[in-house]
Amino acid sequence: MQPILKVQALSKTFHVRSGLFSREKFEVLKNISFCVGKGETLAIIGETGSGKSTLAKLLAGADNADSGQILLENNIIEDQGVRDDQCRHIRMIFQDSAASLNPGLTIGEILNDCLLYNTDLDKESRLKKIENTLSKVGLLVDHQHYYPHMFSVGQLQRVALSRALILDPKVVVLDEALSALDPSVRAQTVNLLLKLQKETGLTYILITHHLSLVRHISDQLVVLDHGEIVEYGITENIFQAPKSKVTQRLFSC
Ligand SMILES: Nc1ncnc2c1ncn2[C@@H]1O[C@H](COP(=O)(O)OP(=O)(O)OP(=O)(O)O)[C@@H](O)[C@H]1O
Ligand SMILES: [Mg+2]
Repeated sequence: MQPILKVQALSKTFHVRSGLFSREKFEVLKNISFCVGKGETLAIIGETGSGKSTLAKLLAGADNADSGQILLENNIIEDQGVRDDQCRHIRMIFQDSAASLNPGLTIGEILNDCLLYNTDLDKESRLKKIENTLSKVGLLVDHQHYYPHMFSVGQLQRVALSRALILDPKVVVLDEALSALDPSVRAQTVNLLLKLQKETGLTYILITHHLSLVRHISDQLVVLDHGEIVEYGITENIFQAPKSKVTQRLFSC
């Protein structure tokens, strides 16, 4: 399958204060490379602090790598700031993405702002797009008039999904986006994600501690340890015969 997203030798170092006048280098991601096909799901697992969210932020354009490249459909994604147009193709949803919704705006206004800043659509087309996107994620057209506090936790994750999808991205990065949901709401959200993937060929990067979810929905798996990939391949093969000690440890927990 033609890869939609290629990550090549990505590295990231943080400079952390270690004393009053000194700073220490902390290599959080080291030489990360993988690729994902269109319509596929790649899961990333690893112990806490292994660098998963940092990698997610680099993919979604919220931070820059020190070296390496991210290619979307063979086009290099430039550094933050000059890549706004490309950024709309890789969108991120995180665990508390609902908390980042402006409480003073209705969902309709939030989605409208997204379209206003990123597209040339006129008012009528924006409204149509908002209504289509809300129904795509299983919300009602009338929900556009609701403020964030008027939604349940599960509905809020759908709102976050609608904000990610409104710009028709090619890749959605889910960083623990399903973790806070109770099992039945999580199952509904997973079914919704799978339905959308089937219908539109969306590609997912799934970061989660839920191994059963990883096995259920991902095609490929990356295992991170201290910022390095220690295992990468077809999910089912890794579940049946994990090679690295770290993967074996994660599976046994
Ligand atoms: N802005 C930053 N400055 C300095 N260090 C950072 C920064 N952001 C993250 N780190 C460090 O980088 C490491 C990786 O963090 P990251 O959030 O990517 O881990 P994670 O794998 O997502 O962990 P978790 O499973 O707990 O979410 C951690 O040690 C963290 O303290
Ligand atoms: Mg994280």
